[in-house]
Amino acid sequence: MFFTAGSATMSFLDDLPFLSPDPLLSVAQQAERDHRIGKLDLTIGVYKDRSGQTPIFKSVKSAESSLVQNEITKSYLSTEGVPTFCNAITDLILSPHDVTCNKLATVQTLGGTGALSLAGRFLSDNFPESVIWIGTPTWSNHVAVMRQCGLNVQTYARNLPTGGRNFAALMDVLTHKARRGDIILLQPICHNPTGDDWNKAEWDEITAQIVKAGLLPLVDIAYHGLGQDLASDLTRLHTLVEQTDVTLVCYSCSKNFGLYRDRVGALLVAGQSNVQPQALQSQLAAIARTNYSMPPAHGALTVGHILTTPALRQQWENEVESMQAHLHTVRTQLAAHKQIGPCNVQTIATGRGMFCMLPLPPTIIMLLRNEYSIYMADNGRINLAALNENNLPQFVALIDRVWANTQIGTMRNVNVPASL
Ligand SMILES: Cc1ncc(COP(=O)(O)O)c(C=O)c1O
Repeated sequence: MFFTAGSATMSFLDDLPFLSPDPLLSVAQQAERDHRIGKLDLTIGVYKDRSGQTPIFKSVKSAESSLVQNEITKSYLSTEGVPTFCNAITDLILSPHDVTCNKLATVQTLGGTGALSLAGRFLSDNFPESVIWIGTPTWSNHVAVMRQCGLNVQTYARNLPTGGRNFAALMDVLTHKARRGDIILLQPICHNPTGDDWNKAEWDEITAQIVKAGLLPLVDIAYHGLGQDLASDLTRLHTLVEQTDVTLVCYSCSKNFGLYRDRVGALLVAGQSNVQPQALQSQLAAIARTNYSMPPAHGALTVGHILTTPALRQQWENEVESMQAHLHTVRTQLAAHKQIGPCNVQTIATGRGMFCMLPLPPTIIMLLRNEYSIYMADNGRINLAALNENNLPQFVALIDRVWANTQIGTMRNVNVPASL
């Protein structure tokens, strides 16, 4: 399309500013294009088993076969999504056996990102004066999603300069900086990127202060089951919904069902509020309707079928347990090295979930990437699932040697182990 400005013919797109791509996805794409022997991609949060594969869950395969046999229509869904999925996921996360709360809404979303985006849009439409507080470092998309929704994002330092979690900074926000009606984004388990979760005592204080200060918690759960186990991973959330008026929960089935590309997630709203949920549901439905009309059915039908079929559910629970066990083993093995290059890694053993930080200097991270095909996020976050007993010792040895050689100012003797 062209138009004329003065004497020149211009395209409508001539002055379009270039937006930098997501930094993490860019590194992951660079890794994908790298075909050098020994490449190790520790970037994006995709689970890999002990043999380095990201297989489809057996429970998922069985559920899909059954769906293919029995599905009788591809007609439109409602904006809220697949009812069996919404009911089953609500029962999984907020089982009446485990938690006492009012369930005000559950909407199927396009993965965890879709849940965050739906929640963010709902909050910015209805609470435009509220600030959303986000502790950084955090998942690389949190701030961008919330800004895109029109929310006023304020960040605080979640980590101490020395690495550990900065409880005082969060309490300072909750006690002094946030105003009544502000929103606080929290990851109760498997914190991305640090793996360093708030402990129970801290969480109890966080919850009490959220209630006291009249804040609205927005909780992001993307790694349910990969921390300790499916039940324990929900106790922090349950504390919150049992004590707050309203909590918004963004849930992803990408990792714990391995359904990354099928885009399955949910936004749940729950708490002690006795409000009639019709207005809330109408708001969420209206946002969904004008954005994507309705979510896709396949992945949600699959999850719904697994969760409501006892044998498949058992198989899925076992599969999640084995993922958790693999992550735990890698944590233990890494931590056993005590020190990797300049990084003290002992606390990795007590962390949870798929990630930890190796706070290497940026020059070392770039060197590992460019010279040795070892890819990690710019901030030193690594996907622990990509390590296993075959590549872990060489990974550690390589960092040690690269670090030692940088310290003495020569890189000549660093060899890339072929098996990495
Ligand atoms: C903390 C966190 N929240 C949300 C998401 C988004 O998940 P999904 O891929 O289901 O959109 C991720 C994905 O890595 C994540 O790490």
